[in-house]
Amino acid sequence: MNAATQSIPVPPRPAFGSVLAPNMVVAEFVEGRWRAHEVRATGPLPIHPGAHVLHYSSSCFEGFKAYRWADGSIHVFRLRSHIERMRQSARALVLPEPDAAQLADMVLTAIDRNRDAVPEAPGALYLRPILFGTTPNIGAAAAPSSEAMLVVLASPVWDYFAGGMKPLRIFVDDEHTRTAAQMGRVKTGGNYAAALGPTLEARRRHRVDQVLFAPGGEVQETGAANFFLVRSGHLLTRSLDATFLHGVTRDSLVTLARARGFKVEERVFTVAEMLEWVASGEAALSGTAAVLAGVGTLVHRGEEYRVGDGEVGPVTRELRALLVAIQEGRAPDPEGWLTRA
Ligand SMILES: Cc1ncc(COP(=O)(O)O)c(C=O)c1O
Repeated sequence: MNAATQSIPVPPRPAFGSVLAPNMVVAEFVEGRWRAHEVRATGPLPIHPGAHVLHYSSSCFEGFKAYRWADGSIHVFRLRSHIERMRQSARALVLPEPDAAQLADMVLTAIDRNRDAVPEAPGALYLRPILFGTTPNIGAAAAPSSEAMLVVLASPVWDYFAGGMKPLRIFVDDEHTRTAAQMGRVKTGGNYAAALGPTLEARRRHRVDQVLFAPGGEVQETGAANFFLVRSGHLLTRSLDATFLHGVTRDSLVTLARARGFKVEERVFTVAEMLEWVASGEAALSGTAAVLAGVGTLVHRGEEYRVGDGEVGPVTRELRALLVAIQEGRAPDPEGWLTRA
């Protein structure tokens, strides 16, 4: 190997979410109102074993990123949208709704107090607000928690594609539902617990990365990402309804694609239509962690379907690069998606 072909070894990075920044921000809801939040060292919280969340799963969360630009400044991507989604999740679970201004301040404080932990691009600081019911009452199955805790955690994360953009292998599950019908658009832990069993089973049996849930033959989303089909200047993704999480990345990509002249169709589509579409198209998963990740193979009822040429498609790469450039401050932000921290 000569000098020109030698690659520089990249030091191994911790897995996504496995490292937490040193400080967290905590607020409590007691006697009908949110108390002032405070910064604490990231660590264990006192929780009563009778707490509502431990019995009746009254909890929801959010996940989004703050980026360090080349000039050193730090910017949060679509803070308001994530706060609104958290408030909507809280309402669906009859939890005390976080105050939008207070939660925004908690997020900005979490960034400020962990400023040194914000990696340079392509890394980011992942923000994870969590909300859970703390009232100690084990007989409250049919009653909401009157007390709650809101915590903003931060975690430095590195490039999801450090090993290169590998096309994903996806199992199409038309048997299981990912969530209870009314919980699809709620970001609550129970949904992930429900998807875990089928996902591990599919990984074991079919060596796939993820499961695409399509109960009754209608495509919804994977365990932690939304789903897109792409073919000759045309994008297709499921229309917003109660069955799946309304991804902020999905919304950003739809906006960007429309502005670039792509035709974007939002409607219900079937597994049969998807399998026909991918023969000459692209498929991709969208979400905060990976932005847009290309699918190379679909596995359905024992058959394997190659997506396009089996590699990450050109439109997937183009839209991903466009969005990442905005997030990292290398392209203009006409929609005002970034908030300076
Ligand atoms: C179930 C599910 N769907 C979709 C998404 C993508 O949402 P977003 O783009 O807001 O990260 C996520 C990730 O948060 C998710 O957990």
